[in-house]
Amino acid sequence: MKNISIEEFISGMPKAELHLHIEGTFEPELMFEIAKRNGKQIPYESVDQLKKAYKFNNLQEFLDIYYAGANVLITEQDFYDLTWAYLSKVHQENLAHTELFFDPQTHTDRGVPFGVVIKGIRNALEDGKEKLGISYKLIMSFLRHLDEAAAFNTLEEAMPYKDWIDGVGLDSSELGNPPSKFERVFAKASAVGFRVVAHAGEEGPSSYIWEALDVLHVNRIDHGNRAMEDMDLVDRLAEMQIPLTLCPLSNLELKVVQHLKDHPVVKMMDKNLLVTVNSDDPAYFGGYMNANYLGVAKALNMSKEQLAALAKNSFKASWLSDKEKEEKILLVDAYLKAH
Ligand code: HPA
Ligand code: ZN
Repeated sequence: MKNISIEEFISGMPKAELHLHIEGTFEPELMFEIAKRNGKQIPYESVDQLKKAYKFNNLQEFLDIYYAGANVLITEQDFYDLTWAYLSKVHQENLAHTELFFDPQTHTDRGVPFGVVIKGIRNALEDGKEKLGISYKLIMSFLRHLDEAAAFNTLEEAMPYKDWIDGVGLDSSELGNPPSKFERVFAKASAVGFRVVAHAGEEGPSSYIWEALDVLHVNRIDHGNRAMEDMDLVDRLAEMQIPLTLCPLSNLELKVVQHLKDHPVVKMMDKNLLVTVNSDDPAYFGGYMNANYLGVAKALNMSKEQLAALAKNSFKASWLSDKEKEEKILLVDAYLKAH
């Protein structure tokens, strides 16, 4: 074991991100640049002033600013630049693989065609694979504050691009919008061949996690923090090894936890849950992958073995092939051994 710092250990470790909203990577500097070239106004005078607005008491306060920010994205180049900026950033953090969400309705409702959005994102992802060596899966997420008909409409719009989309997800305002609202859309999406995931148990109750499992038949839960309130649910998640994509800095910024010391990640690992660490909306929550790992590592005094277990989980819980998963897990094992 070399005597390297925990920061260096985390930074050099190969890892995958499984919970990332591409619209949530929109850094203020790029937002101002794109707004200017599109002749759009941002209701803040400067990057600093905008950053000062990033103080949230709950999910909805964040979502209001997140959707407002996304309004300046218009052209295919805008979506390319947004995605490329994210990939460049995480490339420096030794990210090997990413499974990212995009929210088509945030754009199509403003008159930006579905094809413009997905082509920009996809071209950047393909370039990232080729030039940076970051593999990817793309997940189309439905906005749960909108109705079922709107989600069906979006699923229809996605059909010409079906081969570019690996799965569907469910995000936006959780409370009052249970997974069951989208039972039929998810059934159709599954029938079409998409994998399915859903945000559940971030602000919503543990019953929403049961619904995501039993009604939407998801094979991964985004967040899932509130599972810890229901030990029968914990047993089910552990037994089935249903992955949870945790987002520590997001949880802190949206007051899902009051302090990172209260974060459930280690307690969940102790319960044999397949948990992963992710950044959610890093431009808004103060950190990308390494900052999220470091946050919990420090607050919960985690060992290198525990951190490597999280990285291995990230590959295990991914949609890579079994062979690819095995290769990546061996890489993490070798990394741990060497450090
Ligand atoms: N929760 C729900 N919707 C979201 C989130 C989140 O953390 N981030 C972006 N959209
Ligand atoms: Zn999310």
